[in-house]
Amino acid sequence: MAKTKVLTIFGTRPEAIKMAPLVKEIEKNSDTLESIVCVTAQHRQILDQVLELFEIKPDFDLDIMKNNQNLWSLTSDVLLKTKEVMEKVKPDIVLVHGDTTTSMAAALSAFYAKIPVGHVEAGLRTFDKYYPFPEEINRVFTDSLCTYHFAPTDKACENLVKSQIPKTHIYKTGNTVIDALLYTVNNKKEELKELNLNNDLKIILLTSHRRENFGKPLEEICKSVLELVKRNKDIQFVYPVHPNPNVQKTVNEFLYGHDRIHLIKPLEYAQFCTLMKKSHIILTDSGGVQEEAPSLGKPVLVLRDTTERPEAIEHGTVKLAGTDKNEIISLVEELLQNPQEYKKMSEAVNPYGDGFASKRIVEILKNSI
Ligand code: UD1
Ligand code: UDP
Repeated sequence: MAKTKVLTIFGTRPEAIKMAPLVKEIEKNSDTLESIVCVTAQHRQILDQVLELFEIKPDFDLDIMKNNQNLWSLTSDVLLKTKEVMEKVKPDIVLVHGDTTTSMAAALSAFYAKIPVGHVEAGLRTFDKYYPFPEEINRVFTDSLCTYHFAPTDKACENLVKSQIPKTHIYKTGNTVIDALLYTVNNKKEELKELNLNNDLKIILLTSHRRENFGKPLEEICKSVLELVKRNKDIQFVYPVHPNPNVQKTVNEFLYGHDRIHLIKPLEYAQFCTLMKKSHIILTDSGGVQEEAPSLGKPVLVLRDTTERPEAIEHGTVKLAGTDKNEIISLVEELLQNPQEYKKMSEAVNPYGDGFASKRIVEILKNSI
């Protein structure tokens, strides 16, 4: 019997981290599935870090990243270049992930070619079309283009039903990010010596890169960091700064040169996992980090006003801090000064997965599609 050709398309760091365990699982099932990987390279350096860690050699590399790229050219580059790949490969199914422009445009490209698409991490919603921008519309559009929906949680399944997706095509699988995290922390231990952190100080890990936080909100976040280090002599911030020039500019302007604020390059994933484990508190606007941190028992303050990941808030490991300077300071200091509050936030279970999401998706690919 002919093997099912599965073309996996991704382009940014978080997609790569979350698709890597699935690609590996598809490869393990090479008796029935043929794995073909296409990276758009919407991200270049921080995508390559992940490909190297998980030893993935793409069959196609579209190499589209430009400095300070815009959504229009990104969308059209993905659309046109993936058309050629689909014509060459003629896959039985295409898999895309999440809510980036790569995911949305690759799903549209496959739809135009009348190839069924499976959406990994389907069903996340804020129901606010500008927040996060453009991810909310990317994910709504991607869900509507896709045939198969691999949803991480019950809530994501409910959102898909509300969006008129047939129940027979919705599969609750857990989030593959937990597969990636558990594999990495169990197999790829990394030291952080070259960061020169002070072992006597608590680490507060910070990441912020979202488009809607560019400008004033990111400035407020930076001001809260400056105020927090001034008021609390026992803490140090570590901020792996996203390579987006809009982020680099503000962060360097506000935070460069302080001895308890370590501005560092984006870390390779295994090192980042070690850093999360060593951290006392995590401040982030990242989707992936919100999902990972509960597995490591770390309290997370989310630097956004809404989240499409309400499960961790309901479970008590995550709080929405927004981007108001005083609110951020007050929530961080509550965690620093109130051991009970800290314990409550660091002891909850992870609602996003158990490390077997990729296996479930592959079983569905083999048996139900
Ligand atoms: C993208 C996604 C966002 C996701 C984020 C994860 C879209 C519209 N946005 O946002 O949903 O949360 O990735 O990180 O899909 N750059 C480099 N090297 C890299 C990566 C980026 O130099 O390895 C710089 C380039 O100048 C690039 C810019 O960052 O043009 C922006 O990259 P882009 O993918 O457009 O936006 P992100 O903010 O990274
Ligand atoms: N991450 C990483 N190195 C870093 C910062 C983050 O490997 O320096 C990982 C993090 O653990 C998570 C993913 O990158 O799995 C999140 O990516 P990002 O924040 O860029 O995107 P988002 O999740 O917001 O879409």
